[in-house]
Amino acid sequence: MQRAREDRVPFHVAIIMDGNGRWGLGQSLTRSDGHRAGVEALRRTVEAAPGLGVTTLTVFAFSCDNWRRPAAEVATLMELLAAYLARDGQRLVAEGVRLVMLGRRDRLPAGLAAEVAAFEAMSAEGGRMTLRIAFDYSSRAAIAAAARALGPDATLEELDRLIAGPGGSPVDLLIRTGAEKRLSDFLLWECAYAELWFTERLWPQFAPADLEAAVGDFHLRERRFGAIPATAAPRAAA
Ligand code: IPE
Ligand code: IPE
Ligand code: MG
Repeated sequence: MQRAREDRVPFHVAIIMDGNGRWGLGQSLTRSDGHRAGVEALRRTVEAAPGLGVTTLTVFAFSCDNWRRPAAEVATLMELLAAYLARDGQRLVAEGVRLVMLGRRDRLPAGLAAEVAAFEAMSAEGGRMTLRIAFDYSSRAAIAAAARALGPDATLEELDRLIAGPGGSPVDLLIRTGAEKRLSDFLLWECAYAELWFTERLWPQFAPADLEAAVGDFHLRERRFGAIPATAAPRAAA
């Protein structure tokens, strides 16, 4: 039987899915072919994640700065989001995956924002995993919007809640593929104590075994959140 969302230890994994363009060109294909192959990698990853204990998966699919790319590539990315929802949306809902979109909606093609809202409503009770897709997303914009909305007396907890958005929480593990080691305006606030994991692998090459390796590595790390190591505590107190 499926365990309820509340019963499980929260484990938030975030992924910067980078390297699609380089993969496409490396295969003597186009950058857009790389994005298409990237959707397959997303599909595999979403399928594998709940089995590895992931309760929230946030993926970076399109940044506000990606508007700087050629119009044809941008159009492909919009079409791929629509196609992903059309092809996988119903199945995800049936499997108990809650879908949440982060980012601006006013620049999405006509109809897509409504489609997104419909899937969010349909999947709202999903307890298997929350899948958050960041699209036309900027973390700095999200932080600035929360600061404006809450005003100067905002508490950290209020900011935490508003910046993280629906289904959001601090990130436990941040993965970036594609050999770059930067955050590119993704979940800056939520990654305050995230463990970081980078791979040379390009996103279309990312396989469930890679996710398993990242999660395995995460479990070997000692998170201290500013305190001293747990093993040293008794002696240090003495
Ligand atoms: C990531 O792959 C997908 C998006 C940014 C939309 P890229 O398109 O950035 O691929 P590279 O980094 O140019 O290879
Ligand atoms: C970050 O990748 C955005 C997504 C993966 C959607 P970019 O490829 O846009 O980031 P930079 O430009 O290399 O920093
Ligand atoms: Mg890139």
